[in-house]
Amino acid sequence: MPIYILGIESSCDDTSAAVLSDTEVLSNVIANQQVHSNFGGVVPELASRAHQQNIIPVIHEAIQRAGIRKEDLHAIAFTRGPGLLGSLLVGTSFAKSFALGLNIPLVEVDHMQAHILAHFIRSKHSEEAVPRFPFLCLTVSGGHTQIVRIDDYFKMEVIGQTIDDAAGEAFDKAAKIMGLPYPGGPLVDKFGKTGNPKAFSFSKPGIPGLDYSFSGLKTSFLYFLRDRLKEDADFIENNKADLCASIQDAIVGSLMDKLLKAVKLTGIRQVAVAGGVSANSALRRAFTEQQELGVIQAFIPEFQFTTDNAAMIAIAGYFKFLNKDFADFSVSPYSRSGNRV
Ligand code: KG4
Ligand code: ZN
Repeated sequence: MPIYILGIESSCDDTSAAVLSDTEVLSNVIANQQVHSNFGGVVPELASRAHQQNIIPVIHEAIQRAGIRKEDLHAIAFTRGPGLLGSLLVGTSFAKSFALGLNIPLVEVDHMQAHILAHFIRSKHSEEAVPRFPFLCLTVSGGHTQIVRIDDYFKMEVIGQTIDDAAGEAFDKAAKIMGLPYPGGPLVDKFGKTGNPKAFSFSKPGIPGLDYSFSGLKTSFLYFLRDRLKEDADFIENNKADLCASIQDAIVGSLMDKLLKAVKLTGIRQVAVAGGVSANSALRRAFTEQQELGVIQAFIPEFQFTTDNAAMIAIAGYFKFLNKDFADFSVSPYSRSGNRV
């Protein structure tokens, strides 16, 4: 008999619920929050309020679409952290009461581990191979940028990470400087499609080892635009595609440089990419190119598993369920995981 796990994700501005049958996704419902777009970033108070409004309908729909009854569930997995505490509390409290009501185990999941473990989800759309241990994963989201070495489902080590902004933040901040709404990453990707990635160049960070830095790039972009706008008030509008393509090229170039360095250093050639920024077309292309060059074996997630989703929480929950790694009902969320993945 298959094991049915309900996953709940509420760490930031997406309320999501998913049902997995073993490793196969039966449903993955995501309610995006539009309330933040005019604020240039996620407003924590608005996010937790929207989670409260969304959580019951989203979970109801996930169970319905999966074609099961709630009594069929074997466990409830939820995101414990990292993320916004007010948002995490909504998912955590709901998961606890639902698990208690159904008298089934509660499983806590780390959001960053879940982004990586999303590579083990099977879905109808793809019969892609899953990575074998050990593999490397470039985890790039709005809050994190990490190179992780994965030796087993829950044996992960961060071997490189950003010392300031995350890659997603770099995309969002560059977009904001150009006057685009939040989250700007997908818009930079969209407008950059028709632009020349080598039209403009920005200073590259000189950070040693496998760590990243993106704050210098943001400043360099800001000053560059400030100077150009003095000469031409319509500079951004007239060069939008080239600007987007060029800033994207700088971010992706920086991500790939350190990642390929990590491949060399570790000798591990199976390389995955995960997190919201793994939806970026230039980054996905860079992975494919390196695979075609024979440098890596690339694992690129399906779009629905790139940005925040509950299927990734459910798959992490599934592996923990197999290990009987259950959470105590007194568990509380954490906002940061530090070096822990
Ligand atoms: O993983 P995620 O959904 O949430 C966090 O855990 O942070 O990642 C969201 C980030 C945002 O910064 C968003 O702008 C970025 O992923 N993002 C993209 C694209 N799609 C989402 N960045 C560049 N290109 C995209 N296509
Ligand atoms: Zn995320």
